[in-house]
Amino acid sequence: MQIGVLCSGGDSPGMNACLRAIVRTALNEGHEIVGFMDGYQGILDRDFYVGSAGAPRAVLRTVSGLVKKGGTVLNSSRCPEFATPEGTQKAAEILDELGVDALIPIGGNGTLTGAHELGKYWKCPIIGCPGTIDNDLNGTDFTIGFKTAVQTAVEAIDKLRDTASSHHRMFLVELMGRHCGYITLFAAIAAGCEAACIPEAPFDIPSIVEKLKLMKNRGKRSIIMAVAEGYHDGVMVLQEKLKEAGCPFPTRVVVLGHLLRGGDPCPDDRILATQCGSLAVKAILKGETDKMAGVTNNIPTLVPLTEAIDGHREVPRDLVELLECVS
Ligand code: F6P
Repeated sequence: MQIGVLCSGGDSPGMNACLRAIVRTALNEGHEIVGFMDGYQGILDRDFYVGSAGAPRAVLRTVSGLVKKGGTVLNSSRCPEFATPEGTQKAAEILDELGVDALIPIGGNGTLTGAHELGKYWKCPIIGCPGTIDNDLNGTDFTIGFKTAVQTAVEAIDKLRDTASSHHRMFLVELMGRHCGYITLFAAIAAGCEAACIPEAPFDIPSIVEKLKLMKNRGKRSIIMAVAEGYHDGVMVLQEKLKEAGCPFPTRVVVLGHLLRGGDPCPDDRILATQCGSLAVKAILKGETDKMAGVTNNIPTLVPLTEAIDGHREVPRDLVELLECVS
């Protein structure tokens, strides 16, 4: 069997580790992996990973060192053409023409939505792997890259705390996560932020300003608020509103942006990526399709793609309350 792999959407630390596990598991079972470059675009362009061999289509065998490497050697993209019914159907026809027998797309919500749509036109097995920093998919406790992103955010916020204390300042630190507050909430707890502004738990500006005044009166020298990129009107508007409401701290905004997607994966992400990649291959060999390979309660688990991408994944309420309690 020749199984195609691609990484699509925003890259995330651990995508390479996932690819490595897919290749190693497939080889062990006597099957071959080919990589498409730049996500679904690579199918439409018939653009295969060629490695150093320079052949038009290299079968992936040498994946040494990939467990620790950030980014993705297959590159990634968002592909508007594939997202149309015509584009999806065209991709299905090209996969048949190329003789690919199954597909493992690694990516987030958009990627797995595309994978489900592709299954309506292509009759071969498709198993997705959850590669996104956002942690916004159902059916897996964490997504590949989330924990590394949180670690990067915490390292950055720790540094900002130093300068915030030196200058008696407040920093509003914007963190990625699309519509989801997971990264922001976890980073806020781990970095000891005074507040997290997340879409799932909007706060009242006058009451937060009152709280800030109390903190200032008690001698607090610095404030850090972690703000999710999906928070209401965004971090700049939030800064203005706080100022208008009488915020007692001079405030600066720092947008960490794509910094969170870079860097080598942390051990947890390497392990998760390895579990998901290996399960994806085994699932295909068992004839499964239209599912995502995730890990729930430490157990590698398959979940229907429709469930993985369904609705907004809520953040745990107890962690929202925990942050309020300790900040
Ligand atoms: O989905 C991953 C992510 O990094 C989101 O957190 C963010 O909203 C988005 O991708 C940014 O996308 P782009 O790299 O296309 O600007």
